Parts: sequence; C-alpha cells; structure tokens
Amino acid sequence: MSGVVQVYDGREEIVLSNLDIQEETLVHQTVDISGVMITEPRSVPFVLSFSNLTYCVKVFPKISISNLCGASRKQTIFKSESMLSRTKTVLDNVSGEAREGEILAILGASGCGKSTLMDALANRIAKGSLKGTVTLNNEQLESRLLKVISAYVMQDDLLFPMLTVEETLMFAAEFRLPRTLTKSKKRLRVQTLIDQLGLRNAANTVIGDEGHRGVSGGERRRVSIGIDIIHDPILLFLDEPTSGLDSTSAYMVVKVLQRIAKSGSIVIMSVHQPSYRILGLLDQLLFLSRGQTVYSSSPQNLPRFFTDFGLPMPQNEDIIEFALDRIRELEATPGGIRSLVEFNRAWQGMKISRRKTNIYVNSPSPLHELSLKEAISASILRGKLVSGATSNDISRASVLVPKFANPIWKEIAVLAKRSVTNSRRMPKLFGVRVGALMTTAFIFASVFWNLDNTPKSIQERLGFFAFAMYITFNSCVDDLPVFLHERYIFMRETAYNAYRRSSYVVAHAIVVLPTLVLLAALFASLTFWGVGLDGGLSGFLYYFLMMLASFWAGSSFVTLVSGVVPNVILGYTVMVAILAYFTLFSGFYMTRERIPEYWIWLHYISLIKFSFEAVLQNEFENGNKCFVRGVEIFDNSPLVGLPNAIKMSLLENMSNTLGMPINGSTCFTTGPDILKQRGVTELSKWNCLFVMVAWGFLFRILFYFTLLLGSKNKRS
Ligand SMILES: Nc1ncnc2c1ncn2[C@@H]1O[C@H](COP(=O)(O)OP(=O)(O)O)[C@@H](O)[C@H]1O
Ligand SMILES: [Mg+2]
Repeated sequence: MSGVVQVYDGREEIVLSNLDIQEETLVHQTVDISGVMITEPRSVPFVLSFSNLTYCVKVFPKISISNLCGASRKQTIFKSESMLSRTKTVLDNVSGEAREGEILAILGASGCGKSTLMDALANRIAKGSLKGTVTLNNEQLESRLLKVISAYVMQDDLLFPMLTVEETLMFAAEFRLPRTLTKSKKRLRVQTLIDQLGLRNAANTVIGDEGHRGVSGGERRRVSIGIDIIHDPILLFLDEPTSGLDSTSAYMVVKVLQRIAKSGSIVIMSVHQPSYRILGLLDQLLFLSRGQTVYSSSPQNLPRFFTDFGLPMPQNEDIIEFALDRIRELEATPGGIRSLVEFNRAWQGMKISRRKTNIYVNSPSPLHELSLKEAISASILRGKLVSGATSNDISRASVLVPKFANPIWKEIAVLAKRSVTNSRRMPKLFGVRVGALMTTAFIFASVFWNLDNTPKSIQERLGFFAFAMYITFNSCVDDLPVFLHERYIFMRETAYNAYRRSSYVVAHAIVVLPTLVLLAALFASLTFWGVGLDGGLSGFLYYFLMMLASFWAGSSFVTLVSGVVPNVILGYTVMVAILAYFTLFSGFYMTRERIPEYWIWLHYISLIKFSFEAVLQNEFENGNKCFVRGVEIFDNSPLVGLPNAIKMSLLENMSNTLGMPINGSTCFTTGPDILKQRGVTELSKWNCLFVMVAWGFLFRILFYFTLLLGSKNKRS
C-alpha cells in the first residue's frame, strides 16, 4: 500500500506514511475485500463543512418571591412574560470546515460555546433548534449514517470500574466491530489499539473508581478514547479530551488523535488551553467568543492575524495565551468582539479566494467527484473499519451500513457477560445482600418458630406473611443503583448504536435471575420449615415459586423506577413511599371491603396484595385443618379469662339455643373460613402467581419505553 497524496491549500502531504502503515497493517487486514468490484478506488478526502450554525436557548430566570411581592400583579405578569421570551444565542453564525487527516481544535474561554458547537456538528442537537447546515463532502448527513461512521468522546470517562483495560476494549470490540470478523481478529484489533494508545503497561489493570485503585487519569482518558475509536470512525469528536490531564498525558492523547487523523479520519476536538507542544499537533484552530467565530485558520497564521488586526504579538509569548487574553480584553470593551468577528470574516473571504485559485492550479479533477457513500466505500477499501459492514456489502453502498454490528442474541450475550464480569469482581455487594436477607429469615424463623394451630396463630401467620412479602420487595430495592450507575454508559453506547436498547433490557433481566432464584430458595426454605407452614413438599414448592415471582416482580419494578428517577437518593425516596402504599393496601391492615372506594385502585396495583393472598391460600386452603376448636371460640373475646368449666357450659347453652351439636372438639374456623374472612376470594393461588410473573414482564417492558424516551441524547 502506498501513501495517499492529498492536496489542501496548495500544500501536499502524504497521509499514510510508511511508518503508519506498519502500525495500521494489522487493522487493515481485518476487512476482507476480496471479490469487491470497485474500479480504481480513488482517494477522496473527507471534508466536513458547517455554515451559519446558530443555536439559541430559552432562558428561564427564576421569579423570586420578592419579585412577586414587590410588583403589582399586572407588572409581574408583564415582567415574567418578557423574561420567558428571553433567548440566549449560544452559537452565532459559526462557519468553517474540518478536513480528513487533520485535527480541528475549537478553543475559547469556558462557556464560549465549544461543547455546543461539537454537539451541533455531531448531530446532537434536535433538528428544529439548530439553524445552518452541516455537510460531509457536500452532502447532508443522515443521522443513521453519521451514527455509524462517527464517534463522540464525552468529557467524562464513563467506564465499568471493575473491568480491566483490555476487557473494556474487548467488550467495545464485540459491540462495534463487524460480525463477520472472527474473535481472534477482534482481539488483534484490541491489541493494536492498546499499543497505539500506549496502554500496554496498564492492559491488565482494572479501571477502578473512588473505592478501588485503578489506572491513572491519563490512561482512563485514553481507554475512553479507545472505546470510541475501536471501529476506526471516519469522524471523531472529542470534548476536552485533555482537560484534567498532566502535560505529558495530554500530549500523548493528542498524539494518538493525530495518528487517527492521519489514518484517514477527521478529528474535531475542543480544548481549553493547549500547551505549546500540543499546539504543534493541531492543524486548524477555531476560536469562539460568546458563540461567535473570532479566528479560524491554522496555528501558524495566528500571529499574522492579530498583527493585521492591529495587535502585534510580542516575541517569546505563548501564542494561545496571547490570543485568549486579547479576546478576553476585547470581550470587556463595548463592540470589541464585533470588530474582531467582522475582521475575521473579511480575512476568511481573502483566504477562500486564495484557496480557490490553488485548487484550480493543483488539482485537475474536481474534489468531490464521488458521492459520499462511494467515498465511504473507498475509505473502507483503504482500511477503515465501519461497524457492521461486510465485504459483500461494500460494493453496494446503499446497504453499506447496517444499523447494528451484531444480531440481538449476540448483544444480549455480550451485555450479560460484561455485567457478570463486573459484578463478580464486587462480591461484597452480593454477599451483603444475601447476608441481610438470611439474617431477616433467621429472625423470622426464630420469632415465629413452629406455629401451632390455635386462634392466636391465625393472627401470627397473617402477620408473618404480610411482613415476609414486604421483605421480598424491600430487598429488591438493592437493585436500584445497578442501572442508575450504568445509565450514562448505556446512553453513550446506545447513542452510537453499540447495541439495541431491547438487548439491554433482556440482558439486564437475565443477569438478575440467578440471584433471585438463590435468594428465593434460601429465604423460602429457612422460613417455610422454620415457621412450620402447611402443605408439605408441594406447599413448599409453591411457596418457593411465589417468593421467586415476588422477587422477579419486585426487581422489575425497581428497575422501572431506576429508569425514571434521576439519581439513587430520589430513587430510594420514591421506593420507600411506594412500598408503604403497597403494604397499606395489601389487604393485611384492612380487608378489601373496608378500603374506601376511591383508593381501591391502589389495592389492585399493590404487588404485595397478590403475593400475600397467594401465600395465604397456600397456607389455609386445607379444609381439614382447624384453627378454632371448642372453648377456643372465647380466646379472642372478653370471656377469655373465665374458668374452663364455665366456658364448657356456655358452649352447651349455645348448642341448645342454636339447636345444633356443639362440644369441646367442634371446629368453628377452618383454613378456608379464614380466607373468606380476609376477603381472599377473587383469584386462585395459581392465578396470583401468574399475575405476579406478568407484572414483572410488564415492568420490564415499561422500563424499555423509559429507555426509548429518556435517552435521546440530544439537546432540544
Ligand atoms: N440549555 C441551555 N440553557 C441555558 N444556557 C445554556 C444552555 N446550553 C448552553 N448554555 C450556555 O451556553 C454557553 C456555552 O456552553 P458550552 O457550549 O457548554 O460552553 P463551553 O463548552 O465552551 O464551556 C454557556 O454559557 C452555557 O451556560
Ligand atoms: Mg464544554
């Protein structure tokens, strides 16, 4: 493979130098291009152009109480209306272009609109809100295509703390590399990337978090970048990739970016204040001030630009520092920035006319001769990996980019594996959960040890069941942080189609099941035999299944809540409240007919109702079992203190009055009588089980919808 000559601004440069080719060969081998009929794959450099990007946001200032009290009503309404209609222009007519093989750096003070511009370029702002156009090789990018050929590295590193660097990259490879690649080739790609990113020494170290020691900040950053460049994107966006890093780490990160650019990508990054060394790696700079472009050209032109503007740069001064300081000064003077913006516009005009002549002289063929999709095909032929593209697809540009790299079952398998690997390295969490439930079960078993069949035991059994069912749901709250911790990783991954949201929902459910089975089995066996519940082996099996169904419904419900609430603390608050309602309306504290009509719906959505009624039926369905016999009828009445002989004669009197035989061994209350008293008459125990399982599925489906709605990942 020879170097590809590109012509920009009349300059010539070899994009794939021989040095790079050696490093890239491993990667390039991974796309099998045999049998593809593309005649003469011409190298067409990608150019991302953006013009007149304008983005405004509505600002809603707080209406303070003094505001409301001080002004008359009329004034307040007028004031708040004018406040509501205030808009802030975050991007103001920003234009420019970024070219393949180069790094475009967006600079400016904090709050000048760097991240917003990156979002605008990466199609992360909703269509209606952003004005202006963004094109790649003169073609408007469809969002589907952009998702596949681009990557966005966010400002924060969102990684699984307990996976090693190599594992993290390997999972990314499984998600994003074409399904036609064998595992060994994916592994090869990961190894190449580890070397490219300079992560060899940290390959087997875990990422770490606040509680666990892991890789250094600079290495973390490079892993984050590695995840997003695993499929060798054509367009790479990075929001402040060097912020918070020491000078050497920052330099290494940008060096990696330069290498990516040289391998045929467009790299666009925002940067706060690049060091002198880093500046040497940047090809184009775009300075923003309050959302306006104040400079857009190469670093070499910067001193001349300011000199032309009338602010000559002193010798031996850091040019970036100088530029940022002058911009800050101009921001402070009225009309200062406007004059710089206008000067830059005039300066750009001169540059464009200069370049047009150069292109005319140096390149005989028009620059964008191939359509965008053909250009992407050619790019793949040159060794770029595009997620999911197979060798057969390459010749047909229309089917070039399947939306997802893997089939759904593969995604589920990889997601489940990753989740298990991560949680296996945190055994304490699991141990504490099992331990807590076991302790509760043990206390239960000892408190309600071997219940007898007296009238008092009815109340004790009811109390035991109500509390046991409450405990199953309560213990599911432990699942709450699982998704909340992963949410931003999930959003990052799904934003660029690493996997389907539905796969995540299914994998999430599958991973949690073994734990639930274990918890249900332990809790059910300790309490069933300890308390001495009825029904023998079949009774136990049903009891276990019902426990499992409760855990399943409970954990699904908690998962749904975690999809809706923004953080763990709010999640716990919501769960505590909901659990209280569920318990109150379960039918234990108040039977159904005593619940006010306008609250009855809460009875029917109370998950505890179904499990409570189910285990009651399992316990009391046996009509031969007697709970109130002979004189025990007085046990729960004021007559309980009378001597036994008097109670016997009372029974005899009752027998005479009622005209039916009643003696010391007559049974007054059987199990089914209790069920009737408690109003447990609507559903059979198997129907209750079915309803619980169905609730679980319903919550998982609703969770899927919250993911669909809640993770758009775009600004409005
Ligand atoms: N949705 C929004 N509502 C109000 N202000 C916003 C919104 N989005 C961005 N901004 C404002 O726009 C400016 C630019 O933000 P940003 O692009 O994040 O800046 P930078 O990345 O350069 O620090 C900031 O002043 C920020 O407060
Ligand atoms: Mg920012």
